[in-house]
Amino acid sequence: MFDINKIRSDFPILSRKVNGQPLVYLDNAATSQTPNQVINVITDYYTRLNSNIHRGVHKLSQEATEAYEGARKKIQQHFNAAHTHEIIFTAGTTESINLIASGYSSILKKGDELVISALEHHSNIVPWQMLCEKTGAELKVIPMTQKGTLDINILDSIISNKTRLVFVNHVSNALGTVNPIKEIIAKAHNVKAEVLIDGAQACPHIKADLQSLDVDYYVTSAHKLCGPTGVGMLYGKEALLNKLPPYQGGGEMIATVTFEKTTYADLPHKFEAGTPNISGGIAFGAALDYMNDIGFEAISAYEAELLDYATTALKELPGLKIYGEAPEKTAVISFNIEGIHPYDIGSILDQMGIAVRTGHHCAQPIMDYFEISGTIRASFSFYNTREEVDRLVEGLRKAMKMLQ
Ligand code: ALA
Repeated sequence: MFDINKIRSDFPILSRKVNGQPLVYLDNAATSQTPNQVINVITDYYTRLNSNIHRGVHKLSQEATEAYEGARKKIQQHFNAAHTHEIIFTAGTTESINLIASGYSSILKKGDELVISALEHHSNIVPWQMLCEKTGAELKVIPMTQKGTLDINILDSIISNKTRLVFVNHVSNALGTVNPIKEIIAKAHNVKAEVLIDGAQACPHIKADLQSLDVDYYVTSAHKLCGPTGVGMLYGKEALLNKLPPYQGGGEMIATVTFEKTTYADLPHKFEAGTPNISGGIAFGAALDYMNDIGFEAISAYEAELLDYATTALKELPGLKIYGEAPEKTAVISFNIEGIHPYDIGSILDQMGIAVRTGHHCAQPIMDYFEISGTIRASFSFYNTREEVDRLVEGLRKAMKMLQ
């Protein structure tokens, strides 16, 4: 049973006041809040386990290593990867993408093509542009439609025998659109191109099955799904990761070092130089446990209902325009109100304790497509309520009165 009161009581921050008002946190796509079950794991790590991993024969190091590698196992099982060594801990989605981009800089050549989508976050655009500059490869874009979906009909004219890599987000951070990644992966594989899916915005809502998707790389960040910031994962198929050169040199990623030559460690350590974010990795595992205990089916059913309720309520406001009306979307609503700058609305909502994000959401090409400078984005989580949606609508009405 989905017990919203019990769930909310797990999140201490939800009972704080902001500007004298109870907090209404609707910026979950930027970062999610953290339940006691995850906070306690971080506290416990520094209270009982703090030590360096994979290095010590002593008890603390062994226990910390066990907890960290246990988290890797949880991540593997959650995403149904074939092997634990296909899960690389990183600092987050952005680092995961840069790791892959760095690896392909010695593989790609002039004449190769990379394909991204018009719905990407800057972190899934800029590293590939930098890679193209280095290698002479060319970047092609799958265009979008007014509904905020990808124009999949013309995929065949964009993905060709020259395509080496395709990068698409599972869910758009700016609009909430769920992209048809299975179809895109199949088309890319038809021409022997590899596919990286940015799962940062999908992971709190959708449990991706990596083997069934047959995806080559999947990346995400723990803080989007109730875990801490500064830790994330790169999943890659074993054979592909084995072909890529290491990302950073340092301790832990080596097998042997002499001044003449260094040999590298096996997966996953080849890509994990230096002391990692140990408590973060362990807490990533705890966050997955927490969300799986609630259940992803229950979470997505609850959020879909909340999205419907909020969409209907917002559409009643005069002059409000929603950007992104894909038939399949997560609980994100990007909108503008005629004649008012998003930043002004965001600031007034903040005075009422309501947190939303305003601006281009690190997705400037989407804003350019709609010919706007930015939007107001309310992004919901399974711990939000209808009452909070009502507070948002009431807040918007007040803001409109003040600003129009
Ligand atoms: N990428 C995050 C967002 O969409 C920060 O807000």
